[in-house]
Parts: sequence; C-alpha cells; structure tokens
Amino acid sequence: MNKNFWKNKKILITGVSGFVGSNLTKELKKYGAIVTGITQSKNKNSMLYLEKIDKQINIFYGSVLDKNLLDKIILKCEIEICFHLAAQVEVGFAKKNPYVTWKTNIEGTYNLMESIRLYGKKVKSIIVASSDKAYGEYGIKFMPYNEDYKLKPKYPYDVSKACADMISLSYSSELYNLPVIVTRFCNIYGPGQLNFTALFPDLIKCALTKKIFKLRSDGKSVRDFIYIKDITNVYMLLAQQLSINQKKYKGEVFNAGTNKPYKVKDIVSMVYKYRNENTLLQMTLKNIKKNKTKGEISVQYMNYKKLYKFFKWKPQYSLRSGMVETIKWYQQYFKIK
Ligand SMILES: NC(=O)c1ccc[n+]([C@@H]2O[C@H](COP(=O)([O-])OP(=O)(O)OC[C@H]3O[C@@H](n4cnc5c(N)ncnc54)[C@H](O)[C@@H]3O)[C@@H](O)[C@H]2O)c1
Repeated sequence: MNKNFWKNKKILITGVSGFVGSNLTKELKKYGAIVTGITQSKNKNSMLYLEKIDKQINIFYGSVLDKNLLDKIILKCEIEICFHLAAQVEVGFAKKNPYVTWKTNIEGTYNLMESIRLYGKKVKSIIVASSDKAYGEYGIKFMPYNEDYKLKPKYPYDVSKACADMISLSYSSELYNLPVIVTRFCNIYGPGQLNFTALFPDLIKCALTKKIFKLRSDGKSVRDFIYIKDITNVYMLLAQQLSINQKKYKGEVFNAGTNKPYKVKDIVSMVYKYRNENTLLQMTLKNIKKNKTKGEISVQYMNYKKLYKFFKWKPQYSLRSGMVETIKWYQQYFKIK
C-alpha cells in the first residue's frame, strides 16, 4: 500500500465512532487523510473520544436514515472515498428487534448509495462492510467460505447484511457504475471493541474482573477471529486499489479471515489461562450449557485466498499476538493490572 496516497484524501466513514470506525480513523489520520464521519450518538467511551481522535476530524451526529444529511455531506465535503460501516451489529438484539436492524442496515445502505449516485461525482471508491454472516449456514464440509458462494442467510442480522451486500453490488452494475467493493470479514476483535455481547470484550472483561464467563451455547460453535489492525490495513488497501483502478476492481467481493477456526470454548481457555485464572476457567467450563443457541450459525470461517491472489495480502497477527495486545488495551480501559 502506498501510504502517501492518503495525504489530503477526503474520506467519509459511516459509523465512525464504532469499533472498526475509530480504529480506521486513527490509521487514516496517521497518513494525513481528511476524515468526515457520521455517527448516531456520542458514546464517550468510544476510542474515538478516549484517544481524542474526534478532535482531528469532522463529525456529523445523525443517522444514515437521514437521506438529506447524507446528500449534504457527500456534496459539501467533496467525498472521494467512502467506508460504509454504520450498522446495528448486535446479533442478539437483532433477533429481538428485527425491524430496527432491517431499517438501519438495509435502508441506511441504499440511502448512502443513492446519495453517492446523485451527488458523489468525486467518489472513486466505496468500501461496504458486509459480513461472513451474509453467507448463512453451509456446514463444516463447505468451510472456508468462498466469495462465489450464494448468500443464503436465515436470521435477522445475517439477512440484513446480505441485503446491504446485494444492494451495494447492484449499484456497481453497468446501470449505475458506482465503484463499490464489498467485504465479508469474519469476527473482528481488538482494542476499542465495546460491544460487550461479542465474545472477546465480554470474555476479557470477565477474566480481568475475576468473574465466570457465561457462554451463550455449548461452546462448540466454530468461529474465525481476525485482529483489527489486519482489518484496517486491508480496508485501506482495498480503498486505494479501487480508487486507482475502478474498472478492474468495481463489483468485487473479498473475504478475510485467518483460515484458523477455533471453538468458542478454546478461546475461553486461552484468555483465562493467559491471565492464570485456572479456577475461574474450570468454573466457566462446568457452567457450559448443553444446548446450542437458537438463531445462530454453528460453523463458519474464512480464508484470504482471493486477497492474496490479487494483492499478496495476508494477516500479520496470530490469535495469540492479537489477544495479548487486546487484553492490554482492556486493562487500561478498566484500569486493572
Ligand atoms: N465487529 C465484527 O466482528 C464485524 C465482522 C464483520 C463485519 N462487521 C461489520 O463492520 C461494520 C462495523 O462494525 P463494528 O464492530 O465497528 O460495529 P460498532 O457497533 O462498534 O459500530 C457501528 C457504528 O454504527 C453506528 N450506527 C448505528 N446505527 C446508525 C445509524 N442509524 N446512523 C449512523 N450511525 C449508526 C454506531 O453508532 C457505531 O458508531 C458493521 O457494518 C458490521 O456489520 C463487523
């Protein structure tokens, strides 16, 4: 990746104060980009505010459901590159509140695409965050997912991401020719993740505060976890390549994962053992439920074959090295040694 490329580039990040948004903003600012962000509310605990990254960017407080706001931003800020990250991301919340999830994730996406279609004359690159969940359940025999697998999601969050994914790709068709790349990444973890319904934040919090971690299911679900620094790196690489060569990359989909699946209960063991909390680990394992969680995919993981083929990209962090950095961040966050 050419780091000079980013100097004075006008970037829009939807969901800027979220986990991925704040990490990405931090990286983009290192290379001199001019970042504009949209977020719904000021969550003071977000890394964006904790590390005062917000002082270096323009922030609009509003919703991606406000089409007029999007029109105004795209036009007035002369956006050149857009990362669409804003979404309702909690899988459990989505099961109980499908309506809000559909609205934010689907309507929010076509609002943005429409604004860019109508007013985004300067936009050269749009990177849309879909998810591995968009593929739906394929079973262990078909893992890792390939980018050409059909999307066949069943549950609300998964369907909302698949819809956003397909709508975005539709805007890249010969009808509208928008420069869109869709990313389908596995579970991301790392500093700044404050969604405590996700595995890493909740588990690390329990290990640091000496509590028993309550698994949602039997712990046998298989997942792939990629470190946030690998993700910000791949986002910047894709946005840059697409800007430079829209014809070649427009409409492409890229998976990213580590190709190293873990059972959820193995991750639980790793974190407690790292903290020397063996008694808590035994108590946590004893408490594991016998049943699977309803409404969640049981096995999924990703590789990075296509990213490697196109750009020689591969993840730089092992689960262990990412986990160590992540635990250190939460120690500071919770002020625990
Ligand atoms: N974190 C992961 O493991 C993971 C994995 C694959 C894909 N993704 C996708 O990456 C993106 C970012 O995820 P994240 O982990 O940073 O989530 P997050 O919840 O930390 O951040 C989401 C952001 O979107 C904002 N937002 C929500 N509704 C909005 C609305 N109506 N208008 C404007 N902003 C709104 C929130 O305020 C927040 O800033 C999402 O699209 C998610 O689906 C995440």
